[in-house]
Amino acid sequence: MKRILRLFAFVSVLVLAASCACKDEYGYTIKGNQIVYNTPARPADQQSMLGFAAEPIEHVRVGLIGLGDRGTGAVWRFPYLKDATIVALCDLYPDRIERAQGILEELGAPRAIHEFSGPEGYKELCELPDVDLVYLAVPWQLHTPIAVYAMEHGKHAAIEVPAATSIKECWDLVNTSERTRKHCMMLENCCYDFFELTCLNMAQHGLFGEIVHVEGSYCHNLEPYWDNYQGDWRMTYNKDHHGDVYPTHGIGPVCQDLNIHRGDKMDVLVAMDTDAFAGQDKADERYGKGAVEKYANGDNTSTLIRTRKGKTILVEHSVVTPQPYSRMYQVQGTKGYANKYPNEEFNVPGLALGGAALKDVAYDALDAEQYMTLKEQEAIMAAYKYPFVTEIEDLARKVGGHGGMDFIMDYRLIYCLHNGLPLDQDVYDAAEWSSLVELTEVSINHGSMPVVMPDFTRGEWDKVDGLTFAMAK
Ligand SMILES: NC(=O)c1ccc[n+]([C@@H]2O[C@H](COP(=O)([O-])OP(=O)(O)OC[C@H]3O[C@@H](n4cnc5c(N)ncnc54)[C@H](O)[C@@H]3O)[C@@H](O)[C@H]2O)c1
Repeated sequence: MKRILRLFAFVSVLVLAASCACKDEYGYTIKGNQIVYNTPARPADQQSMLGFAAEPIEHVRVGLIGLGDRGTGAVWRFPYLKDATIVALCDLYPDRIERAQGILEELGAPRAIHEFSGPEGYKELCELPDVDLVYLAVPWQLHTPIAVYAMEHGKHAAIEVPAATSIKECWDLVNTSERTRKHCMMLENCCYDFFELTCLNMAQHGLFGEIVHVEGSYCHNLEPYWDNYQGDWRMTYNKDHHGDVYPTHGIGPVCQDLNIHRGDKMDVLVAMDTDAFAGQDKADERYGKGAVEKYANGDNTSTLIRTRKGKTILVEHSVVTPQPYSRMYQVQGTKGYANKYPNEEFNVPGLALGGAALKDVAYDALDAEQYMTLKEQEAIMAAYKYPFVTEIEDLARKVGGHGGMDFIMDYRLIYCLHNGLPLDQDVYDAAEWSSLVELTEVSINHGSMPVVMPDFTRGEWDKVDGLTFAMAK
């Protein structure tokens, strides 16, 4: 009898485990053939951050944490922003702080007042009374813990990509931002590239008609860079995880085109990856044969997402196979089409628009089934450039950072903080785009099972009508 009872208990546990893979409030339940993520209720002491604007900050005092490749790039850019100053620097290593101070001096900017090093130096920086914005360029696993600490200590947080590596971390960012009323922006720079910004403006003017399908990707052979990441953080993460571990460059700009959580929402996702053919070879070469039994991250990971309004999004990630760099950006609408990569690099036109969409511009026989000529494309791109891009373009191209888009991003962040305006990207963008890290891995681990995505706005995804870039009056 005891044996039967034990068997019964064992089978019950198995059944429970299969139907409810994770019981925490941020976890998921398997229902039928779908993985359904929970959307926990908003705690009473929190308010939505949709449209949130903080008090204007006359001069934004910036604390920069992480002075490797990316953080050092920010040090080169910030002195060109008249309404901000880097007042504090932090890295594991003091010599990286000294290198950053040297850059500030070279650019004629004041040396940062505060310096912190070591694994917990960031805490002292976040606790400073004379810092308004904590700007993070540290390894992925540290993004959310440090951003949460910063917001808890009264600072706005700007976080490199992806902002979070798990659904729990996505909720930590949302909950902390909502509770502390501090901005939490992910630094998705690809949303500020010239082609993407102008296409967004064209989309908002209806030139593509109803957008039905979009594509975005991060296909970049990281072979020359693997040794640069401090403590091998990136290869370590990739060898341990399936899924699109770096989704936000691909998904960010196209979510803006689709007005995600500003009229539409991402509902269901399916991810599929290849085996790690090149990834395993790379690990064998790097760590010695047999050291990594099975490299997890597929050589190519594809993700398909369907939105509530019936649109689809395709996202790809591929970082170990040799191929030309591509941050694919593609928009298919009922009246037109835009495509970037590899076209831009080869100087081939990337716009195809139906003549009917071009109300104010006369063109010969456009039928949207052929790319426009370069001349036509240049004219339309000039006509639809956002005014704020026109204003800052020359300086952005001079300062650089991926051709200028990094500077436009920093410029907009500081402009909005200085003027007390809502930021271009809010904490829900950060959570939604970063959520793909876990959601794609979970889908793949369950044989590409569909995943019903959590709603970080908690039902408010249709309260805002489209994305606007806030401007001071
Ligand atoms: N948006 C983009 O185009 C882009 C490009 C490159 C990197 N990134 C992102 O920037 C981030 C950093 O990447 P990277 O290439 O500069 O990596 P990196 O390894 O060169 O730099 C990381 C830095 O963080 C420091 N660090 C580690 N732990 C720390 C701690 N506890 N406290 C303070 N500093 C600490 C390291 O010492 C190092 O200097 C990553 O999130 C990456 O995804 C974004």
